[in-house]
Amino acid sequence: MIKMAIVGAGLWANEHARIFSEMQEAECVAICDVNKERADEFAAKNHIPQVYYDHKEMLAKSGCDAVSIVTPDFLHTQIAVDAANAGKHMLIEKPLATTKEDVFTILEAAGKNRVRIMVDMHNRFSPPFNNAKYIVAGGKFGKPVNAYFRLNDVRSVATNMLSWASKSSILWFLGSHCLDTLSWILNSRVKEVYALSSRGVLDAAGVDAVDVYLSSLVFENGVIAQMENGWITPNGNPCVNDIKFTCVCERGKIDIDASNNNLLKVTSDERMDTGDCIVSNQIFGYHKGFAYESIRSFIQKLESGEEFFVSLEDSANVCLALLDIMESAKTGKVITCEHV
Ligand SMILES: NC(=O)c1ccc[n+]([C@@H]2O[C@H](COP(=O)([O-])OP(=O)(O)OC[C@H]3O[C@@H](n4cnc5c(N)ncnc54)[C@H](O)[C@@H]3O)[C@@H](O)[C@H]2O)c1
Repeated sequence: MIKMAIVGAGLWANEHARIFSEMQEAECVAICDVNKERADEFAAKNHIPQVYYDHKEMLAKSGCDAVSIVTPDFLHTQIAVDAANAGKHMLIEKPLATTKEDVFTILEAAGKNRVRIMVDMHNRFSPPFNNAKYIVAGGKFGKPVNAYFRLNDVRSVATNMLSWASKSSILWFLGSHCLDTLSWILNSRVKEVYALSSRGVLDAAGVDAVDVYLSSLVFENGVIAQMENGWITPNGNPCVNDIKFTCVCERGKIDIDASNNNLLKVTSDERMDTGDCIVSNQIFGYHKGFAYESIRSFIQKLESGEEFFVSLEDSANVCLALLDIMESAKTGKVITCEHV
């Protein structure tokens, strides 16, 4: 039985708590949030016995084996370092960290303390993307040549949902999934990036963030790819995400429309909603969907001692390449990527 503790009692932490409560191999023993009211409410709603308002106290007293870090994108590092020093394994929400220094600080702490870390890159668990990975790897269509990945959010995610959007970016929030999935399916690291960005729409709405990044990528194995990550898709879009993927191989191609896929349409007088059937939903009260599969997999692999489906090095390299994309968009230069 893995005793889990969660740091950050916000929106996404609910998904972690739900899965731990359903799994026989896990139990959530503690929740911690600097916001006392939120922590107390979360504990009551999810029947979590211990509540803390300081993660160091939680690490020292809760008796947890591992920690879910579900704080805002730029606030993972100190908690991760303290958890590593306390000998706790970790499931860290994406992105691992948002500066180069933070990425290396976490890697060093994990290595020094021999703790295991998985970053929640759940798109690898999405049925169409997981299929794409193994179709490409099977080689039936020859080598991949070029790829395209659009992963956008509706504007309200930046303007209403995330109170900390100005301190993050669409690249951290969704580009991390995008780049991780591309590198995984193409089975290669990014060698060079060139990117453009545009801003103005979110600025006008009071959010200090780039509207959209368009990134051209060259992978070490020669594949070329384009990535589109925008935070200004109109709120009337029938799905919160706009996801399109194409991978062209020597003798075939794969296309994915993971949003607006018309699996389920719910229409009111105001709008049609195509939902997110494959991401997270309930079947007879049990939580199903790829967002839950990655959390479940963390527990299973921690217990079995097998490798996680997402390596820490891959997640670190995603962060470094995203920083290079931001640098390219700022300077107009092609950037050669470094890796861990
Ligand atoms: N896997 C996914 O697709 C997915 C989806 C949504 C969010 N996320 C990620 O999850 C993370 C959290 O996002 P969210 O939407 O739940 O944010 P949120 O703002 O709803 O919640 C974050 C919580 O962390 C708390 N917090 C901040 N600093 C803290 C600290 N030092 N100690 C304890 N608590 C602290 C805040 O008070 C807040 O309650 C982000 O990294 C985000 O990118 C991942």
